[in-house]
Amino acid sequence: MTTPHASPARGEIVRLDGERIRVIHDERTIAERVLELARAVAASEPVNLLVVPVLKGSFIFAADLLRAFYRVGLLTEVDFMILASYGAGTTSSGTVNVLRDIETDVAGRDVLLVEDILETGRTLAAARDLLRERGARRVMTAVLLDKQVERAADVAADFAGFTCPDVFVVGYGMDKAHAYRELPFIGEVLPNDDDSGRTES
Ligand code: PRP
Repeated sequence: MTTPHASPARGEIVRLDGERIRVIHDERTIAERVLELARAVAASEPVNLLVVPVLKGSFIFAADLLRAFYRVGLLTEVDFMILASYGAGTTSSGTVNVLRDIETDVAGRDVLLVEDILETGRTLAAARDLLRERGARRVMTAVLLDKQVERAADVAADFAGFTCPDVFVVGYGMDKAHAYRELPFIGEVLPNDDDSGRTES
């Protein structure tokens, strides 16, 4: 038997699998911000835009952003790249591997890289540099979360949803050892000894 979950509000603590996750951005807030980002991207007047979600973490953000593009009148093409810089742990290994490349020729095109989170910047910088080398006319970057940590690579988000403190976040595509990607909100995984905040039963 599964138990249905409510859509928790910002600040609530959700208990899942013995883990406590505090909601940082709830569903409605994310949806509103994604629509604003779509408007901002459209206002940049992209030409022949190819959207490239960098998987896996970006898959929900990208799906919502793409549908928001349609709503604001921006038509695009989409191709996918799978990059990995982390294993199943929580710290960066410092290297970026292309596990799956796009099939589309980007020469002369505007490209929008879509990422769930910008941390050291290694992943986004690697993708950007690859597409620039292939002759993309303009490589833009959209990230849902811009984490406030020191960058290891010289890269910034052209479009950012929210700034994010240096905490471990999950949900809305982001995982902890492959779990929690399906959460419709963005939450902070709380350390086990932290008992502050409200509780959802
Ligand atoms: C995460 C996230 C970004 C990257 C950000 O991916 O999705 O791609 O890390 O970190 P950086 O700015 O330090 O490079 P991860 O490698 O965990 O893989 P996943 O997207 O498949 O979960």
